[in-house]
Amino acid sequence: MIEAKEPRAGRCGAPALIAAALAACLVLPPAGYFVAGLLQPRSSKDLGEEAVLRRIQPQAQIALAPGSGSARTRTTGQIYQATCAACHDTAAAGAPRRGDRAAWAPRLKAGLDALAASAAKGKGAMPPKGGDASLADAEIRALVEYLTTK
Ligand code: HEC
Repeated sequence: MIEAKEPRAGRCGAPALIAAALAACLVLPPAGYFVAGLLQPRSSKDLGEEAVLRRIQPQAQIALAPGSGSARTRTTGQIYQATCAACHDTAAAGAPRRGDRAAWAPRLKAGLDALAASAAKGKGAMPPKGGDASLADAEIRALVEYLTTK
C-alpha cells in the first residue's frame, strides 16, 4: 500500500512545480521592468507642464502655419484636429476633453459665447485661439460648440 502511494505523491508534486515556474515567468519580467523604471534617473524638467507643452508644440505649429491656403476651406472638424485636438483629445495640461460632459458642464454655465471669448483670449495653459491667430471669431465659436457637444 505504502509503495503504491509514494510514486503517486511524486507525480502530484510536479504540476505544482510547473505552476510555480509558470507563475515566476509571468511575474518576474514585469517586476524587473518596474524596478528598472524606479532606478532610472529622471530629471524633473522633462515631466512638468511646460515640458509637455514644449514637446507637443512643434506639431501644433506646423498645422497652424498661417497662409497655408486651405484655412478658409477647412471644416470645423478639420480645424479642431489641426489646432485643438493635441490638448483637448488628450487632456494635456488639464484641458477638458472633447465631449466629456462632466468636464464641460461647469464651464458651460457661463454660456457658449463666454467660452468662445475665453478660448479666443486664451486661458491657463491654452494660448489665445488655441495657438492659431488666423482663426475667426465665428470659427472659434463653432469649435467651442464642436468641443462641448459631441
Ligand atoms: C496647448 C493646449 C491647448 C490647445 C492647443 C487648445 N486648448 Fe483649449 N484649453 C486648454 C487647457 C489646458 C484648458 C483649461 C484652461 C483652464 O481652465 O485653466 C483649455 C480650455 C478651453 C476652453 C474652456 C475655457 C474656459 O473659460 O473654461 C475652451 C472653450 C477651449 N479650451 C477651446 C479650445 C479651442 C476651440 C481650441 C482650438 C482652437 C483649443 N482650446 C486649443 C489647452 C489647449
